[in-house]
Amino acid sequence: MAAPLVTLSDYEVQAREKLEPGSWAYLSGGAADEFTLNANAQAWQRLEIWPRVLQPLCGGHTRVKLAGRDLAHPILLAPVAHQRLAHAEGEVASALAAAAQGAGYILSTQSSVPLEMVAQAMLGDQERGPMWFQLYWQHDRAFNLELAERARAAGYEALVLTADAPVSGARDRERRAEFKLPPGIESVHLQGVPPPTTHEAATYCGGIPAHALCWEDIAWLQARTPLPIWLKGVLHPQDALRAREMGLAGLIVSNHGGRTLDTAPASARALARIADAVDGQLPLIVDGGIRRGTDILKAMALGANAVLIGRPLMHGLAVAGALGVARVIRILRDELEMAMALSGCRTLADATRELLDTPTGL
Ligand code: FNR
Ligand code: LAC
Repeated sequence: MAAPLVTLSDYEVQAREKLEPGSWAYLSGGAADEFTLNANAQAWQRLEIWPRVLQPLCGGHTRVKLAGRDLAHPILLAPVAHQRLAHAEGEVASALAAAAQGAGYILSTQSSVPLEMVAQAMLGDQERGPMWFQLYWQHDRAFNLELAERARAAGYEALVLTADAPVSGARDRERRAEFKLPPGIESVHLQGVPPPTTHEAATYCGGIPAHALCWEDIAWLQARTPLPIWLKGVLHPQDALRAREMGLAGLIVSNHGGRTLDTAPASARALARIADAVDGQLPLIVDGGIRRGTDILKAMALGANAVLIGRPLMHGLAVAGALGVARVIRILRDELEMAMALSGCRTLADATRELLDTPTGL
């Protein structure tokens, strides 16, 4: 009999056994030498929690406010492409799990299931968290607006623009494994999207794209969509301040799980600096290497309002479909509650920098 699945790393070990080596390389790998991939997890691990004892814990809970809503806990599922690589039901299964666990859900543009089907899986659930659509900007502006409108019509409540991947990173591990999407799995929303120009396609990594997302495009989109816009993939405090000036809904402090620019800072370090810069004036979500409830507590102490998990959702999917993802979320939430009680936090508002070892903790 298989060993019991107690932690997120147990799910990771079993997922690896289930997945094709190419899919595993795609999913688990980072860019280049994977310094940033590794730094993400290490930064959370290195931060010490200085617990307070004898605090009143009665009536404690993990609830947070995000985007005007009360959520049962601060965990959302990150946009992760091609989820049918991990399980035949793909994004529908992860959305069901998110809804059942009251977790927020962000669907990738590169979903392997149409956005309407995913929405149907979630919308009926009263206890569900927010449901957002991640937009990978395409060079045809009108196409982006049409896709945003399609998502709005299907019930998605915000757009997440990913800013940190104008080109793919140096995915060496993936290339060594010669990973290709298997037949039958495709980015269903990008069918028929015109390919880059011949010149761009001819260069090795697609060339420096002439049409990558920039601040002006965001302003253009803001003027045309009623949906709030979150920006994902911000690390520099100056970019955070610009996003605040533009009236964006919030930021996802992220280095794409270490998959784009290697040697970019760990997301925990960037979070500390960005939180100081925006001074509570802009909601912050962080992702990258969140694998334990203590990681979430530290993120909240540094100034995050919520966290995303990426690879762990795929591990849950690969091991047991929707149930696996639901368990992954539940494990993290239980660990978070434990960490709160053991450090004297009755609610997540009690998780402040005083819990950490230095002012930024890093
Ligand atoms: C991603 N990520 C991602 N981000 C995004 O904005 N759109 C996308 O389509 C994808 N696709 C994707 C695929 C895979 C296989 C991975 C692992 C990641 C990045 C993702 O949203 C998130 O930022 C990271 O995964 C967070 O780091 P952890 O939790 O995986 O360590
Ligand atoms: C990735 C792209 C799809 O990280 O965002 O694989």
